[in-house]
Amino acid sequence: MKTVFSGIQPSGKLTIGNYIGAIKNFVKLQDDYKCNFVIVDLHAITVPQDPEALREQSEAVATLYIAAGIDPSKSNVYMQSHVPQHAELGWLLTTLTSMGELERMTQFKDKSAGKDSVGAGLFVYPSLMAADILLFNTDLVPVGEDQKQHLELARDIAGRFNHRFGNYFTIPEPYIPEVGARIMSLDDASKKMSKSNPNEGSYIALLDPPDVIRKKISRATTDSGREVKYDPANKPEVSNLIGIYSQISGLSVAEVEQRYEGQMYGPFKKDLAEVVVSVLEPLQQKYREIRESGEIRNILREGAERAGEIAAKNLKEIQHLMGFLPRG
Ligand code: AMP
Ligand code: TRP
Repeated sequence: MKTVFSGIQPSGKLTIGNYIGAIKNFVKLQDDYKCNFVIVDLHAITVPQDPEALREQSEAVATLYIAAGIDPSKSNVYMQSHVPQHAELGWLLTTLTSMGELERMTQFKDKSAGKDSVGAGLFVYPSLMAADILLFNTDLVPVGEDQKQHLELARDIAGRFNHRFGNYFTIPEPYIPEVGARIMSLDDASKKMSKSNPNEGSYIALLDPPDVIRKKISRATTDSGREVKYDPANKPEVSNLIGIYSQISGLSVAEVEQRYEGQMYGPFKKDLAEVVVSVLEPLQQKYREIRESGEIRNILREGAERAGEIAAKNLKEIQHLMGFLPRG
C-alpha cells in the first residue's frame, strides 16, 4: 500500500479553505493509502504562539480531523512533536538545503515581509516539512495550492540525498485538487482565505455557528453583475463562491451554473449558505461529542506509537547512509 502524508498547523481556527483544500481529500484517500495526518506543532511555533492557545488548538485540530471523517483505526493521527524523528530528520535535511532555495520560498517572503526580526525557524521551515514527508517515504501529499513550492523543494532535497548517499527516498507527488485548491477571502478575492486574517468576515471557520455562516456568506463581496457564472479572471468573487458550492455539494461547476441560470446572486448565496451549513452542522455536532468524550488523547497516543515505529526504523537507515556511528 502506498503512503500519504499531510499536516496542518495548530495555529488558529481551521477554515473551510483548509477543509476543501486539504481535509476533504485526506478523508477520500484514507481507504486506498497508508495515511499519516499530522498536527504540525513544530511548524506552528515558527511564529510566536501563546502556550495555552497552542495546547487548545492542537486538541481542536486533532478533533476536527476525526469529526471530518478521518478514521483513526485506518490512519495515523498524531502530534508532530510526539514523534521526535521529525525534528531530527529536519536537522539532517537542513544541512542539505541551500540558503538560496529557502530565500526563494514565497511563504517565507510573505510571512517575513515588513518584520524587524524574523526567527530562523521560519526560514528553515521547508526543510522540516521535507523531513515530515520523506521520513515515511511518502508517495502522495494532499495539500492546497500554496504548499506546492514547499513540496517541490522536498522533492529536490530527496533527489539530492539519493544522489549523494544512495537511492533511499521516494520522490513524493503532490495531490492538489483542480477546483478548490485555493479558496479566496470572502471580502477580497485577490487574497487566500486564511485563519490569520484579522477580519473574521473574510473566512468561514469550521466551528462557526450556522447563523454566523449564513451572515458571512450573505455579506460576501460580489461584483455588480448578476450572472452566476464561473469566470475567475473577470468574476473572481462569484467564481470563488461557485468553487465552494461545487466542492461542498459534490456538484460540478457546470451543474452549479446551470442550477442558477437566470437567477441573481441573492438566491444563490442563500442556497450556498445552506449547503455549507448542511455539511458543517453535523461535523460540529461530532466535534462536540469527541471533545466531551476525551478520547482524542488516546487516538493521538496510538497514532504516535504506530508512526513512531516506522519513523525510528527509517531514521536509523538514513543516519547509517549519511555515515553516523550507530549507538552500540
Ligand atoms: P495551514 O493552515 O497553512 O496549516 O494549511 C493546511 C492545509 O490547508 C494546507 O494543505 C493548505 O494548502 C490548505 N489550505 C489553507 N488555506 C487554504 C485555502 N484558502 N484554500 C485551499 N487550501 C488551503
Ligand atoms: N506547511 C504546511 C502548511 O502550512 C503544513 C505542513 C507541515 C505539511 N508539514 C507538512 C503539509 C507535510 C504537507 C506535508 O500548510
